[in-house]
Order: sequence, then structure tokens, then C-alpha cells
Amino acid sequence: MTTFTERPVADVDVANIARIYDYYLGGLYNFAIDREKADRIRTMLPGVDLLARANRDWLRRSVRFLLDQGVDQFVDLGSGLPTANNVHEVAHARNPLARVVYVDHEPSAVLHGEEILADEPLAAMIEADGRRPEQVWAHPRVRELIDLSRPVGILMGGLLVFVDDEDDPAAVVAAYRDACAPGSYLSISHLSDDLADAATRTQVARMTDAYRVGVGQELYVRDREVIASWFEGMELVEPGVTLMADWRPDPGSCVDAQTSSRVLGYGATARVV
Ligand SMILES: C[S@@+](CC[C@H](N)C(=O)[O-])C[C@H]1O[C@@H](n2cnc3c(N)ncnc32)[C@H](O)[C@@H]1O
Repeated sequence: MTTFTERPVADVDVANIARIYDYYLGGLYNFAIDREKADRIRTMLPGVDLLARANRDWLRRSVRFLLDQGVDQFVDLGSGLPTANNVHEVAHARNPLARVVYVDHEPSAVLHGEEILADEPLAAMIEADGRRPEQVWAHPRVRELIDLSRPVGILMGGLLVFVDDEDDPAAVVAAYRDACAPGSYLSISHLSDDLADAATRTQVARMTDAYRVGVGQELYVRDREVIASWFEGMELVEPGVTLMADWRPDPGSCVDAQTSSRVLGYGATARVV
């Protein structure tokens, strides 16, 4: 087993989104600066860690659904760290031959990811900009592990929340869709507050301010209608674009059933035709 050491990496003194997210998931791949920022952000939106957990739970259910459809190769865009029962663990539990490439743009997340996956021949982590499909497809590890002539699962759990309108999330999604063979699937989750009450919306606004000011990262909150529009030209899988917790929930699971953060994110999966 690989042991994580707080070894000096370029941004050890700068909080980073992947490690903040890992902290919210209960992971160990985070530094004091990440925990400090994460705790501060949680004072703005108390359910933010439950939201992260609901997002990761949705991602796992989505991967299991795709495995059930026969998908055996996955590209996880904006993956964060490959920890906390992430895609390769879920996939390999059902299909040990499944191939997984994690993609993140944060160098230190990728450094840790490579370390974590060192003993996994069928999983890799690469540094690339998820907004640039051509960068992803051209990467040698992607070319080695992913066969685009066969169905592939493209996962965008919480990626597009970092993509502003100028970078055109709809066009990014369409470019991935067009690169994939028929029978492929795209899964997307996204932060939203259109069902939230006024108090929770205020908390969400404070949280996005805290990310901007404290971490230097802009977060975009979007309505269900906008998120649904990205699936144009694909077949949405039932139950369509729903709150993440309502997308094919596991029997008996209720990670955030009673909290206001339950309404803060949509998830959906669609088939490429
Ligand atoms: C919310 S976290 C991880 C979520 C994870 N995919 C999940 O669903 O559990 C989002 C990740 O996206 C990464 N990210 C943000 N913008 C990106 C971009 N343009 N390209 C690649 N990764 C990006 C961040 O570094 C962060 O690790």
C-alpha cells in the first residue's frame, strides 16, 4: 500500500480544490492549509461536506450503472484525487479489466494520483485541462488505455461548475459527445440552487465568495434548465436530470436526506446515439 507523506510539492502552502474536496470526503490527502480553508468554507455553507459526499455517491452509482450497460473504460474529467472509493475501485470491484483514466488540471493532485495508482496497470491519472478534449485525447496514457472506437464512460462529476460561460460548457460537452462511439455515456453533476430557500441561497453565495477569495477559484451555480440543455443530441437515461440524491438511489441510502444541501446539485447520465 502506498503511504501518503506530506512531501514538499509546489503548492504545499496554497490550498487546492482537489485536496479540499478530499478533506470533505474524509480522505487523508490534504494539508493543513486545505483543512483551514475547507473549515472556513464550511462556516459559510454548513452542509458543504455532505454535498461533496452526495456528489461522490452519485458518481459511484453512475459508474455502476455504466458497468451494467457493458461500459468497461472510463475517463473521469475533473476527477480530484483517486481516493475515497473512487472510479477505478468501483469499476474493478465489478470488472477487474476495466480501464480508468483520471484527469485533473492541478499538478499536485496529479502527482499524488500517480503515486496512489502506481500499482494499478489499468488506471492512470493525467494532467490536462478538461475544457480541452483534444488535450485529453492526445495524452499518451489516454491513447494507451482508452479505445475511442468502443463505448466509453465520460464522467464530469463537479467539473463544469469550474467552467465559465465564456468557455462554453455546452460546447465542451458536445465535443466529448462527438468524439465518442455510439453506446458511450456522459455523466454530469453540477452545483445548483434553483430549489433552495432564500437562506440557503445566501449560504451558497457566501461559499462561492469564500472559494473566490480564499482559494482563488470561481464557482458557477446554474439552473436545472441550463444543465439539461447540455444533453442535447443524446438520450437521457431515466430518471433524467434530477437532484443527485434522487438519481437511482441505492435502497436505504440517504446521505443527506435531512439537510438543506440536498437540493444543491443535479446529476444526469445520457447515452450517445
Ligand atoms: C469537485 S472536485 C472533484 C469531483 C469528482 N469528480 C467527483 O465527482 O467526486 C473537482 C475537480 O475538478 C478539477 N478541475 C477544475 N477545473 C478543471 C479543468 N479545467 N480541467 C481539469 N480539472 C479541473 C479540480 O482541480 C478538482 O479536483
